[in-house]
Amino acid sequence: MKTQSQNNPKKGAASMNGHAEDLQKLLKEQLRDVLSAEKQLVKALPKMVKASTSGELRDAFNEHLEVTKKQVERLEEVFEILGAKATAKHCEAMEGLVKEAREVIDDTDDGSLLRDVGLIIAAQKVEHYEIAAYGSLRSVASVLGQDKIADILQETLDEEGEADKLLTRISDNINVEAYEEATR
Ligand SMILES: [Fe+2]
Repeated sequence: MKTQSQNNPKKGAASMNGHAEDLQKLLKEQLRDVLSAEKQLVKALPKMVKASTSGELRDAFNEHLEVTKKQVERLEEVFEILGAKATAKHCEAMEGLVKEAREVIDDTDDGSLLRDVGLIIAAQKVEHYEIAAYGSLRSVASVLGQDKIADILQETLDEEGEADKLLTRISDNINVEAYEEATR
């Protein structure tokens, strides 16, 4: 089966029309959603730092808090390029993901490794959500010929990928230790 772009080889960044404007509008709306997601995370991460049992996880969350603050600034830069106000539009998905992290904290004991296992799961869900958002938005920005914006989004996308990989590495140890703690 032919893809749409094969059928319409001239369609793309070069042929801007009313539909391209719709796409630009959609990009802006989605950027507002991800701005809300990052801002919610800036509020949630300090609680995850405080709740973590292992120093390694606490450091990772602390570092990601600083990275996330920079990502908010980067999004504000994107809005500046677009000549639009950086207004966040409440991201329901992040609200749910943050709620799950809070539930982990409520359902586990202070100082337990079980809590860290749960927090890593919650945090990796967050990272994967953000990876999906930034990956697709970067692609839309590219199609629109917004290369600078695509580069900025790629930078954040790379950071989210790094954060996810770091969490996987940390979980390799913590999951085993939590198992040992549970079976002692
Ligand atoms: Fe982020």
